[in-house]
Amino acid sequence: MFPKNAWYVAATADEISDKPLGRTICGERIAFYRGAEGRLAAVEDFCPHRGAPLSLGHVKDGVLVCGYHGLHMGCDGKAVSMPGQRVRGFPAIRSFAVEERYGFIWVWPGDAALADKATIPQQHWYDDPEWAYGGGRFHIACDYRLMIDNLMDLTHETYVHASSIGQKEIDEVPCKTTVDGNTVTTSRFMEGITPPPFWKMALRGNNLSDEGLVDRWQICRFTPPASVMIEVGVAHAGHGGYEAAPEHKVYSVVVDFMTPETETSIHYFWGMARKFKPDDAALTDSIRAGQHTIFSEDLQMLEMQQKNLLAHPARALLMLNIDAGGVQSRKVLQRLIDAENTPTTGASA
Ligand code: FES
Ligand SMILES: [Fe+2]
Repeated sequence: MFPKNAWYVAATADEISDKPLGRTICGERIAFYRGAEGRLAAVEDFCPHRGAPLSLGHVKDGVLVCGYHGLHMGCDGKAVSMPGQRVRGFPAIRSFAVEERYGFIWVWPGDAALADKATIPQQHWYDDPEWAYGGGRFHIACDYRLMIDNLMDLTHETYVHASSIGQKEIDEVPCKTTVDGNTVTTSRFMEGITPPPFWKMALRGNNLSDEGLVDRWQICRFTPPASVMIEVGVAHAGHGGYEAAPEHKVYSVVVDFMTPETETSIHYFWGMARKFKPDDAALTDSIRAGQHTIFSEDLQMLEMQQKNLLAHPARALLMLNIDAGGVQSRKVLQRLIDAENTPTTGASA
């Protein structure tokens, strides 16, 4: 249950070098590679000869060569040549719209004719000298919507991440959810609280005192099909909170792309873009290590939750006020999926 006519993050740019990469995105098995002049290409991971995965082959002179019997595949999905054979009558395979941007490889798993590169969501922090980014990738055996629920309701931090970013005030301060078109926002502002360990580390990393109280904010934004950006930070209490001047705060954006692999698994690209100490590589590493630990805790919870849900598919779940962000995000997704499946749109994949 995912829109297919949409851009998804398929990989980080450095994952695709001189070798092809085989990866399933929204149920489509795709071979990604760099063709002539490093230009990205994405074709079905299926050789028209005998069905071998093309991603097990290699790239020679910008052409993808099947690793089984040497068929040369073009980036448009048409066979170019094969030793000792005439390939003109070979059936074509699918090719996918693909683009490298903001350090990621974006793919459109639906109808390539509908793919508009102008709609790839802008990542304002990329290439901005005031910002730094570090991140990673997890494979998680869960429906991508469970990850959206998770990120649009941060009350779980109090329990799942008790030793790093959790604190009781998250439970105590209500969150507010709003919907604007396809964007769903859930925000929470906490004032005069003790910073938890992760944020103490970040304060020290920005040469700020980690003693005393802070104001803390979390602004989670879902945009379809599979992204949640979370503005997070703390400021020394009484300096304006979210609006505080840079010398009183640490301000970051948690970057999350939960690309569906199948109905019940995701490639989760996570990271943090920060607007302080952008040149401090050691700080980037320690934030990445902290996030790795934090998201590993989510991974375990989500995979076990998914197992439970698969074992009890008919069981009704509760929808509490804290679930509003996830509920609204799922409504946006369902609208898009329904639109794709309505024949009059001509957009079904
Ligand atoms: S399966 Fe690819 S060349 Fe034979
Ligand atoms: Fe979490």
